[in-house]
Amino acid sequence: MNNEKYCWQQLLLHWLSAVIIIWALASGFAVSMLNVSPVTFERVTQVNSVVGTLFIPVFLLRCYFRVALPLPKNVNDEGWRAFVAHFTHLSLYGLTAVVLLSGILMMDRGIDLGVFTLQSMLCDPFWLGLWFDVHVLSCALLAALVVLHVAAVIKHEWWGRRIVRRMWF
Ligand code: HEM
Ligand code: HEM
Repeated sequence: MNNEKYCWQQLLLHWLSAVIIIWALASGFAVSMLNVSPVTFERVTQVNSVVGTLFIPVFLLRCYFRVALPLPKNVNDEGWRAFVAHFTHLSLYGLTAVVLLSGILMMDRGIDLGVFTLQSMLCDPFWLGLWFDVHVLSCALLAALVVLHVAAVIKHEWWGRRIVRRMWF
């Protein structure tokens, strides 16, 4: 379908996801790199584990709407540019999936979600360490891709292509 905008479901989920992902990336890297107190580290990590886990169904819904609903027509006229944009968007989805999966698998303790506690899936320190490394690496790649994504949006707007309108209410 050749409409000019994303559907409202895609808009809502894009901005909700953007806020959660940017918050989790910024706060996660901040507490791991800055010299914060162990209490702050523990609090932020705990909040992020819960928020990240609750984000999983939201992300799955977003993936569903990505395939079930029509997309607006390409903003890029040249084929290779459309391919790069498409590839970047799919990579954002793929990396988010890896970040969420590795986050769950690296947990060495249960995640208290209020109504129930999600038990840790693994206990072998080797696998816990491996998934931790995957989590950190995928977070770093996701952060780089988000920067690229936002830079591309700014570039389009700068050149007069009103791209944010396509992803706005
Ligand atoms: C929106 C998805 C998520 C993002 C963007 C995200 C981001 C991050 C970042 C940037 C870090 C710091 C990495 C470092 O040490 O340099 C981190 C650490 C952590 N994440 Fe996530 N995360 C997400 C989801 C999850 C989930 C679903 C869980 C578990 C249920 C989780 C559990 C943790 C834990 C426990 C740490 C601290 C590890 C440590 O240093 O002891 N994260 N996360
Ligand atoms: C302030 C930050 C952000 C801005 C201004 C922004 C803006 C946009 C805009 C304008 C589009 C539409 C592109 C088009 O016309 O095709 C878009 C699409 C997209 N954005 Fe963002 N975005 C932001 C943050 C994020 C974050 C943090 C993520 C996830 C990691 C993300 C993931 C995506 C994806 C996957 C698409 C493609 C949508 C689809 O095809 O389903 N965005 N974004």
